Amino acid sequence: MHKGKGMKFVGDSRISAERKSTIPKDYSEYPGRTEAFWPNFLLKEWLVGAVFLVGFLTLTLAHPAPLEGVADPTSATYIPLPDWYFLFLYELLKYQFASGPFVLFGILILPGLAFGGLLLAPFLDPGPGRRPHQRPVAVAMMLLAVVSVIWLTYESSSHVDWEQRAEANKPIHPDESVVDQDDPGFAIYESNCMSCHGDNLQGTQMGPSLLETEHSAEEIATIAHEGIGDMPAGIFQGSDEELDKLVEFIVKTKEESQK
Ligand code: HEC
Repeated sequence: MHKGKGMKFVGDSRISAERKSTIPKDYSEYPGRTEAFWPNFLLKEWLVGAVFLVGFLTLTLAHPAPLEGVADPTSATYIPLPDWYFLFLYELLKYQFASGPFVLFGILILPGLAFGGLLLAPFLDPGPGRRPHQRPVAVAMMLLAVVSVIWLTYESSSHVDWEQRAEANKPIHPDESVVDQDDPGFAIYESNCMSCHGDNLQGTQMGPSLLETEHSAEEIATIAHEGIGDMPAGIFQGSDEELDKLVEFIVKTKEESQK
């Protein structure tokens, strides 16, 4: 008699016929392509992270972010800019297809599609390959995103004179201010020139500093009426007597600042 003959195998309905393995896939068939998460992979991650962290810390020590002047809600000459990592979004809004009547496209739809695309990336590109040419969709999306962000950031920052902006927005401590607000010329300066040349004559994004001007008193008086270069004519509105006080104030303040 053969062993097992006549024996009946009975199924148990509580156990699925195709039992799925709970043992993780064995990657040993790809030598060199896989490694233990702990400690091999994490150690590498931490090393790279530490290099970047130390790099950034050194950078912030060598080039500390400058403080700007005190926020002034009445200043119409200050042009606020987002931080560098948002400049590309800001630049996007300058394009016609993303501004004006289409601004919803610029602020919501386009960035929404871009970031939504990031969420969808694993589903759009489910292949197991790890090499770039095996993942054309993910690589193309990533390249497109990187190139557009870099390009838009570059475009945006190339339109700003960063040094002049920093100079014009420099904080001026009240003790360091050279302006004598009791001078009779100050009020005239305030109402005619300050919006472009700054409350300390230090210049703004609309006009240069007057503290370094090489123009004489007579020339300043002429410029106040006739303008110069990008400064339009007809700015000064007032009597000749007021003009004298204004010029005197500018010259005095300039000399004070150079002491
Ligand atoms: C609308 C903005 C604006 C206003 C208001 C304004 N300026 Fe100017 N000013 C400018 C600009 C811009 C320049 C730079 C012109 C250039 O070199 O192209 C300038 C240049 C000057 C210069 C020459 C500076 C130099 O050394 O090159 C003087 C002086 C001057 N302005 C005086 C005045 C006086 C005085 C007033 C007030 C009566 C005044 N400005 C009002 C925009 C303005």
